Order: sequence, then C-alpha cells, then structure tokens
Amino acid sequence: MKFFLDTANLDQIKEANDLGVLDGVTTNPSLMAREGIKGKENILKHYKTICGIVKGDVSAEVISTDFEGMIREAEELSSLHAQIVVKIPPIKEGIRAVKYLSSKGIRTNCTLIFSPGQALLAAKAGATYASPFIGRLDDISTDGIELVAQIVDMYNYYGYATQVIAASIRHTMHIIQCMEAGAHVVTCPLKAILGLLKHPLTDIGLEKFLADYHKLNK
Ligand code: E4P
Repeated sequence: MKFFLDTANLDQIKEANDLGVLDGVTTNPSLMAREGIKGKENILKHYKTICGIVKGDVSAEVISTDFEGMIREAEELSSLHAQIVVKIPPIKEGIRAVKYLSSKGIRTNCTLIFSPGQALLAAKAGATYASPFIGRLDDISTDGIELVAQIVDMYNYYGYATQVIAASIRHTMHIIQCMEAGAHVVTCPLKAILGLLKHPLTDIGLEKFLADYHKLNK
C-alpha cells in the first residue's frame, strides 16, 4: 500500500519524505489556501517545489468545471512536471475530461468520489486514480470504509487498472481499515501516519532494554 501525504505544507512533506516511506502528495484548493498560496504563478511554483521534495505522484486540482477549461488547466499542470497527476471531479464534464486526458497520456485523479457509480465511471474513462472520501462520509454517518471496499472489489472484479486512493482520512485507524479493504493508496495527514508507530509496549520494552544496558555499561 502506498502512502501519500494530504497537504500542501512543505515542512510536513519534508518530514514525511525524510521518514523514507512517502510515495506521493495530494493537494486541493483548500489545502493550498491553508498554506496561504495564492495567485496562479505562486500556485504553479508551489506544485513544482513539492515535486522537488518527493519522488512520487503529486496531485494538483483543476478549478474549472467546463470541459475546455479543465483540459486547458490539465495540460498546463501536467506540463509543469512529470510527477503531476491532474485532479478532476466526477461531474459530467469531468468524466469527459478524464476520458480525453487519458487518451492523451495525461494522468488523472478523479476526486470527490462518494459512490461506487462515480468510481465506475472514473475507471471506465481511464482515470489513473479514483479518490473516495472516507472522512466526509463518516461525518454524515455513512460508512466511508465500506465504499473503499466496494470500489476495490469492483475494480478487481472487472480488472480496471484505476488505483483507489483512500482520501479524507481523519485518523490512524482509518489507515488500518483501508489496508484491510485493499486500497492501493492512502492519502493522509502526517499525524495519522505517525500514529501507526504508537504502542505502549514498544515504549515500555525500549525503556527496559536501555535501562538494562546502562546498568552494566556505566
Ligand atoms: C484528497 O485528495 C482530498 O483532497 C482530501 O483527502 C480531502 O480531505 P478532507 O475531507 O479532510 O478535506
């Protein structure tokens, strides 16, 4: 399972990359705004900076909602860097755009997926990735993990090459559940990844090992 970091924060991307387990980054307009990145030039520059830090795929989202606008943006974004994957929403124009872009060899991440039907259309259109949003479904008392499992099963059954990015991850347990559901990728906050390391028995065991060593090696 691949780990993407779901942020536009450069310090966090560097920290996760230094761990040696980072496979990519996903951003969206809200995450860019959170970092105060504004203006087209700065936004494009920021994507390039992220690509310079991490070796894997970096998702950058279009803000157009019409076919021509999405294509124009997608071509500009993908020409920035070979690692860029263009994020497109699963609306009518978006699915058309994914189909067109995949025929041109431009990689896409169909984002804001909340149903198996949207994921099916994303795969049929040739999306590189489909991103079901787990946390936002959980927020409205709907099982987000169940959606990830349904999409993974559907893609496996029909042999679609589209990879599932479990997105909108809220906490560490979501990562474990996505692993059990067979998600190809999880994109999450750094805190959720670091939570995987936490175990009291590790801390107690390490403390004891070090204490025993230091008793005899003063
Ligand atoms: C991922 O691609 C999305 O941008 C992200 O996971 C959305 O997460 P949120 O629901 O925490 O905003």
